[in-house]
Amino acid sequence: MAEIRIRNTNERISGEENVKAFLENQEVLYEHWNANKLPTELQNKFVLSDEEKSQILSTFDEEIRDLATRRGYRTWDIVALSDATPNIEELLKKFEQVHTHTEDEVRAIAAGKGIFIIKGTDDVGYFDVELEAGDVISVPEHKPHFFTLMENRQIVAVRLFIETEGWIAHPFADASFNK
Ligand SMILES: [Fe+2]
Repeated sequence: MAEIRIRNTNERISGEENVKAFLENQEVLYEHWNANKLPTELQNKFVLSDEEKSQILSTFDEEIRDLATRRGYRTWDIVALSDATPNIEELLKKFEQVHTHTEDEVRAIAAGKGIFIIKGTDDVGYFDVELEAGDVISVPEHKPHFFTLMENRQIVAVRLFIETEGWIAHPFADASFNK
């Protein structure tokens, strides 16, 4: 289940209802899917063939279509990242910069872990959302954020798009952000 860390105070928020309420206040959608639906051999596999990616998408087809119908997503795919990903260091360097998009960024974690760093309201500042398998998050359009891997450096996620062009990253220079 997702956990929040507020960067200014180091305060942690856990428990599905608390996390959901905090994120709702920050206009971030949070839902949870049953990650155990995924066949066991895919729950810990981070280099995937096209067939395996399709298998993950069909496992969560109902959840994906429900989310897509409610929120207008038209296409979806699978992203898998780990130390086996070519150029992973360069990719992470690129990822780890605060940016915005013209559409929301939605990720459903199928396996592994990941973390979104999001700029909250002025009273909260930047906060981390640590995600694990089953967590679904949507960072609203124009909200500064970035995504990266956690210590395990392994993730498989479903990405959903309204228009794939909407995912272009616009750098957000912010003096108030410090790692
Ligand atoms: Fe992004």
